[in-house]
Amino acid sequence: MAKEKKNLDWGNLSFKYQPCDYSYVCNYKDGTWEEGGLSTEHTITLSEDAGIYQYCQEIFEGMKAYTTEDGSIVVFRPDLNAKRMADSARRMVMPPFPEDKFVDAVKQVVAGNEAWVPPFGSGATLYIRPFMIATGEVLGLGASDQYQFRIFVTPVGPYFKAGAKAVKLTVPAYDRAAPMGTGNIKAGLNYGMSLYPTLQAHEGGYSENLYLDSRSRTYVEETGGTNVLFVDKKGGLVVPVSATDSILPSITRRSLVELAQHLGIPVEERPVRFDEVVAGDFAECGCIGTAAVISHVAKIEAEGVDVTFPDCGEEGGPVLRRLRDALVGIQTCKDPDPFGWVVKIV
Ligand code: PLP
Ligand code: COI
Repeated sequence: MAKEKKNLDWGNLSFKYQPCDYSYVCNYKDGTWEEGGLSTEHTITLSEDAGIYQYCQEIFEGMKAYTTEDGSIVVFRPDLNAKRMADSARRMVMPPFPEDKFVDAVKQVVAGNEAWVPPFGSGATLYIRPFMIATGEVLGLGASDQYQFRIFVTPVGPYFKAGAKAVKLTVPAYDRAAPMGTGNIKAGLNYGMSLYPTLQAHEGGYSENLYLDSRSRTYVEETGGTNVLFVDKKGGLVVPVSATDSILPSITRRSLVELAQHLGIPVEERPVRFDEVVAGDFAECGCIGTAAVISHVAKIEAEGVDVTFPDCGEEGGPVLRRLRDALVGIQTCKDPDPFGWVVKIV
């Protein structure tokens, strides 16, 4: 029988942390990962010289759990988060967390916090944040020899303050990721460096920054916390690809591409020049990711730039809305899942 849910105002949650009953914790020492398991402790105490504090060895993931109409609890493609986290670990000289152990840990922590998974139809979801930090001491520049892998969960509402309404983006003078840098992995350091331009964007009334490639400032890359997609005037999906491999390989993006192909929507994956966007070549634009799902973009403004997406009203344009509904339909098991993406937990 489904567990009784916590008494929260599910429809009015924002994207904010609140500790739940359990976190999953697993430590790495002497070259091996311990067994790991659930913990009711939500704070971490470390040496002041831990690698995370000195040289920023931290990587993370973002996933969601959903309550379905029949009261089951499911997660979406956890194997891909497991793999991406292992890729991030290798780049940051951290020990990859075994991928099957990752999926098992997600199952344990979601099942343990079943009462915190927002009810079907509430619009809220349980956000799952796996992360890994260097816990061993380092002084000379180098990698730590001890790590902690951890997952916390927290119930969340919409990522952007605009909720389901279309958002405005701006183009910052700052870069997000260097060629041959770490833009293609999910390392906390990428987000730390984006905080200042993000603050400036928020002060200017924008939800996010759209970053251009840092080598030539010619091509569209992504925002601070999402990939972006465009729809051309013929209704085809246009997916920006990075010539310098500095875009995070989004699981939402990969799923939407597969879904569009399944629905017969033409898909083009290619470098997208920002001057195409400025020239008004696209009918729709969206910010996409686990936290943001698909947030429709109404406008992109910057110095000398004023782009409006003609098909995107307050609620978004028809192609991205169709894709959003199809994706969320599968994620919440409202619709059949022909791809086998959804993993049942409870
Ligand atoms: N790009 C960045 C920089 C992100 O932080 C995220 C969020 O995870 C994404 C893209 C979207 O990736 P995913 O769809 O796997 O959540
Ligand atoms: C996610 O979408 O899961 C992310 O990790 C993005 C983050 C900036 C909240």
